[in-house]
Amino acid sequence: MSILIENLSTLQNVIYIISSMLFITGIKMLGKEDTAVRGNFLSALAMFIAVSITLVNVVNPLIIIIGISVGAILGSVIALKVKMTSIPEMVALFNGFGGLATFFIAWSEYSTTPENYFQYILIMLTTFIGGVTFTGSIVAYGKLSERLTIKKTSLITKLFTTIFYVSLFYLIYSAFFTDIFEPNFDFYLILIILTLLGGIGFVLPIGGGDMPVVISLLNSFSGIAAAFAGLMLLNNVLIVAGSLVGASGLILTIIMAKAMNRSIGNILFVGYAASSSGSKSEETGEVKPINVSDAFLILENASSVLIVPGYGMAVAQAQHVVRELGELLEANGTEVKYGIHPVAGRMPGHMNVLLAEANVPYDVLVEPDDVNPTMDSVDVTVVIGANDVVNPSATEEPGSPIYGMPIIEVHNSRTVFVLKRSMSSGFAGVQNPLFFKENTRMLFGDAKESIGGLVSEFKE
Ligand code: TAP
Repeated sequence: MSILIENLSTLQNVIYIISSMLFITGIKMLGKEDTAVRGNFLSALAMFIAVSITLVNVVNPLIIIIGISVGAILGSVIALKVKMTSIPEMVALFNGFGGLATFFIAWSEYSTTPENYFQYILIMLTTFIGGVTFTGSIVAYGKLSERLTIKKTSLITKLFTTIFYVSLFYLIYSAFFTDIFEPNFDFYLILIILTLLGGIGFVLPIGGGDMPVVISLLNSFSGIAAAFAGLMLLNNVLIVAGSLVGASGLILTIIMAKAMNRSIGNILFVGYAASSSGSKSEETGEVKPINVSDAFLILENASSVLIVPGYGMAVAQAQHVVRELGELLEANGTEVKYGIHPVAGRMPGHMNVLLAEANVPYDVLVEPDDVNPTMDSVDVTVVIGANDVVNPSATEEPGSPIYGMPIIEVHNSRTVFVLKRSMSSGFAGVQNPLFFKENTRMLFGDAKESIGGLVSEFKE
């Protein structure tokens, strides 16, 4: 019997290693559009294999199978119903439930009395990170879906933020000064309550627009909590999967912060609102509007066009007409490329996802570094609902809050069309001198309607 149990545990570990290899291969495949779907499937399969082999020596597998089935059905229904633009909200909820699962694991491990100090520290950390991830993610979901409208300067926010710092202090205190607690004093229950309330206070003071970055950070937290839970349970696959999520979430957070030229500290504790107060940008020069017919005449004669989409294209859901315009331009002998900024829109890869949905080929998408050096040879850049990511203040105005943020330098192309509805600013809340440049023409209106108008002109 003992040989059987030993062999089973070896077999489990071998299968865990195979699953881990499949996770890593799957994640690598996510990096390319044509392998991404298979990569996703491979990682899901790896998780299925890992969970199945874990069930083999579980005392009551039925209850776990029921749990998995309910979760799988609910998760599939939500994932099938969700709109592309609401994916960050769904990810927020999923992160939250990941955090809650590890929080429960830590709680149940605490009830069975930790065997040593290392185990105790792991339980405390997992409880804290899992709990903060759970309630923090629920707040992030509420903010992103605009269901939660508590102001970041309100008294409630300040109260919860204070609780967050108290919970952090309490965690450190209870981790290192265990002997101060009276025998009948339920300090762990207090940690649980403080942690759950503290998670709310961690996210409440962060601006709604910064939520995608926070969600990526919470995603990383959920992975770290899972890795700690893996150490607690001595489960290798949980350690590997948790570390992968923790590391990739953190890398994504850093990439986003860098692309916005902001530190993670600025995002978490300051926000754009505070930093934009120093902006000196003012409206200067004359705005030159253009109508669809005149824009068409210029585009018809262009030999190279760079399309630069931004958040407004997502709002207008203009990606399909944009693809149609691109095809018509190509049929007219024009070279067409799409300039994609890493933080255009409101979620990582937002523009890539929208353009992929509209079947724009991956090889015509270019990044700022590829396109900026040759921008002066581009005849027309068509800026569709992008604002901050093409704002020359980022390179020309040292006092600007976005100074230093890499941009797509469309102002260096021969002619720029900016498609937006008004002169209002973008996410960073700063004025855009691009709109007043000599070579810029403003095509006012909803992006889908304006592009639709251009498409009709080409077809006539
Ligand atoms: P923004 O700077 O936010 O500008 C979007 C523009 O779209 C607005 O100026 C708006 O002008 C226009 N617009 C809105 N609806 C439109 C419609 N129906 N038709 C035409 N235009 C429309 O967008 P961006 O250039 O993509 O920059 C993204 C910003 O978000 C950056 O500051 C970035 O740091 C920040 N951010 C990004 C992320 C990620 S991960 N992508 C996460 C958090 C924050 P009108 O109202 O005048 O139309």
